[in-house]
Amino acid sequence: MLIKNKKSRHRSQQSKMNKNTLAVFFVLLMSAIFSLKISAATDSEELAKAHQAYTAKGADTCLSCHDEDNEYPVMPIFKGPHGQPFGEKAPFNNLQCESCHGPGQAHAKKAKRSDDVAGTIIHFGKNSTTSIELQNEKCIDCHQDTERGHWPGSAHQQEDLTCVSCHQIHVAKDPVMQPTTQTKVCLSCHTRQRAELHKRSVHSMQYDQLQCSSCHQPHGSTSDKLLVKSNLNETCYSCHAEKRGPFLWQHAPVDEDCGLCHVPHGSNQVALLKKRTQLLCRECHSPAGHPSLSPSATSLPGGRHSGIGKFVVGKNCLNCHSQIHGSNHPSGAKLTR
Ligand code: HEC
Ligand code: HEC
Ligand code: HEC
Ligand code: HEC
Ligand code: HEC
Ligand code: HEC
Ligand code: HEC
Ligand code: HEC
Ligand code: HEC
Ligand code: HEC
Repeated sequence: MLIKNKKSRHRSQQSKMNKNTLAVFFVLLMSAIFSLKISAATDSEELAKAHQAYTAKGADTCLSCHDEDNEYPVMPIFKGPHGQPFGEKAPFNNLQCESCHGPGQAHAKKAKRSDDVAGTIIHFGKNSTTSIELQNEKCIDCHQDTERGHWPGSAHQQEDLTCVSCHQIHVAKDPVMQPTTQTKVCLSCHTRQRAELHKRSVHSMQYDQLQCSSCHQPHGSTSDKLLVKSNLNETCYSCHAEKRGPFLWQHAPVDEDCGLCHVPHGSNQVALLKKRTQLLCRECHSPAGHPSLSPSATSLPGGRHSGIGKFVVGKNCLNCHSQIHGSNHPSGAKLTR
């Protein structure tokens, strides 16, 4: 349309030059479109640059909008460790709010005009549009210490958890850091373990003596299942040192793996056992050479007298083999004393 209009205007003035003029216009038009494109490009570059810019007044700017009346309570951060202005790494000794949320000038500008600010600033948590990598990078920037050394490749990193899947920042006390509330945070995802903790025998985690992180290093570790020590037994020994021995009479499986007989979280048997003792022992001990399975009196320990079987058959192996983790008694070879 534009070209036609111009064409007709030109035709009335110099009809003979028509073809040439048309060509010139084409060139002009193209260059106009081209330059339009260029200016569009510089615009978005500018926007990107503004996006990189930090606010001049830092937290003062942020708090002019995100105050006590804000729907999301940001203020409690000043009661927690991140709100304290002490130390080289303290956010409030550095870029303040923007230490974590990144450059905020573009966000602050846009927020003056509109509530629709999604994507203008680093945003953490479930509803975030910021990439998981960038969210975690922000935290790791300051927390790149040995504790987080095994984060890359760990189960939680692989499952796309963010630091904020467990941690809260705008609170006086981070629940996952408190002994009595940590379990709740972990169990919000680990429903199977939640069920196990309702069984008859558990590592009680209601009180502050024991938590998930007594045994697990949630940031990743060198062992299977994120254990705090290099393997399962070492983890158990950190509290049950008396089971380590050395014993005069060892029970071989104890040294090897507590998990051959115990489950860690919860069991309907006594003492976190995997199974009822009789069944458990028979997993490894065949009736051969031992009477417990055999109704024949002749095979009873202690001789061929009839009647002794009633002490053995169907009885709990532990009635006699009480020193199941090992014995230091000179005659405790059969773990009976
Ligand atoms: C002019 C007011 C204003 C200023 C200044 C301001 N914000 Fe916001 N901010 C808003 C509004 C409005 C929203 C959207 C509604 C809400 O979440 O409260 C928002 C949302 C956010 C969000 C969530 C973003 C999202 O994608 O949902 C974060 C994080 C945030 N602001 C942090 C900051 C930080 C950090 C600063 C200082 C650098 C800052 N804001 C400065 C008004 C402002
Ligand atoms: C140590 C890092 C850190 C600092 C410093 C920090 N924040 Fe946050 N902020 C977070 C995290 C993490 C979340 C997400 C929390 C969540 O999902 O429960 C968040 C959430 C927010 C939200 C809510 C966004 C939403 O989901 O609606 C706002 C607004 C906000 N911060 C503003 C601020 C302001 C203002 C400051 C400075 C006074 C500040 N933040 C300082 C890490 C930080
Ligand atoms: C600008 C540096 C900085 C950034 C960014 C930062 N932190 Fe921190 N963080 C600190 C400082 C400083 C402390 C307090 C000193 C200490 O305990 O080591 C701290 C303490 C903590 C603690 C211990 C809290 C407690 O109750 O003892 C946790 C957990 C934590 N940060 C998690 C995070 C997470 C998650 C993020 C990302 C959202 C983050 N931090 C971002 C500097 C930072
Ligand atoms: C699966 C939950 C979970 C995730 C994900 C997680 N943490 Fe933690 N974090 C914890 C728990 C639990 C503790 C308390 C550990 C303890 O008491 O031994 C903790 C403690 C901390 C501490 C303070 C104590 C210390 O170890 O120095 C910092 C700092 C921290 N985490 C930073 C991070 C950062 C950074 C990320 C992301 C890379 C992250 N956390 C991801 C659960 C988590
Ligand atoms: C946001 C959800 C979420 C939270 C919160 C969470 N986890 Fe996990 N965790 C997962 C997912 C997903 C996996 C991988 C699938 C699985 O094994 O269940 C996993 C795996 C694990 C594993 C097995 C690792 C392996 O190598 O197989 C352990 C142990 C674990 N988490 C412990 C914890 C502890 C301790 C906490 C609390 C400090 C916690 N988790 C908090 C989601 C979560
Ligand atoms: C007493 C130590 C201990 C405590 C406390 C503990 N765990 Fe475990 N957990 C273990 C051991 C040991 C394993 C490995 C079991 C195995 O390999 O069979 C394990 C395995 C796991 C697994 C992986 C299960 C699988 O089948 O892959 C998850 C998830 C888990 N624990 C979550 C938790 C949560 C959540 C808590 C807190 C409620 C918790 N644990 C408390 C010792 C513990
Ligand atoms: C952080 C310390 C700690 C660690 C690590 C630990 N335990 Fe325990 N364990 C306890 C405490 C405390 C009790 C007794 C209180 C209770 O029942 O919660 C206990 C009780 C037990 C019981 C007896 C439960 C009952 O119902 O009588 C067994 C069995 C047990 N632990 C096995 C293990 C095994 C196996 C491991 C390694 C996977 C382990 N523990 C790791 C602290 C620990
Ligand atoms: C051969 C099977 C077996 C192995 C392996 C084993 N236990 Fe046990 N454990 C038992 C039995 C059976 C009981 C129940 C004892 C009772 O009821 O008197 C028990 C009870 C316990 C108890 C609670 C009673 C007590 O003696 O304090 C703890 C704690 C315990 N075991 C820890 C461990 C640890 C730690 C390991 C690994 C180093 C381990 N067990 C390996 C069979 C085993
Ligand atoms: C995971 C396999 C396993 C389980 C389960 C197991 N044991 Fe053992 N037990 C062994 C091994 C291996 C030996 C060493 C055998 C040897 O030296 O000839 C042993 C040795 C013994 C001995 C000493 C035998 C001897 O000849 O010196 C007794 C007694 C014993 N176990 C009783 C039990 C009782 C009771 C239970 C159940 C609470 C049990 N065991 C569960 C593997 C197991
Ligand atoms: C009434 C007590 C009693 C009960 C119950 C009992 N035992 Fe024994 N057991 C003994 C005695 C005593 C010996 C030692 C016999 C000997 O020295 O010749 C023995 C020996 C053993 C031996 C070593 C066998 C060998 O040939 O030297 C094993 C293994 C064993 N018992 C396992 C078990 C298991 C598994 C159970 C449960 C199903 C069990 N015992 C129940 C008393 C008992």
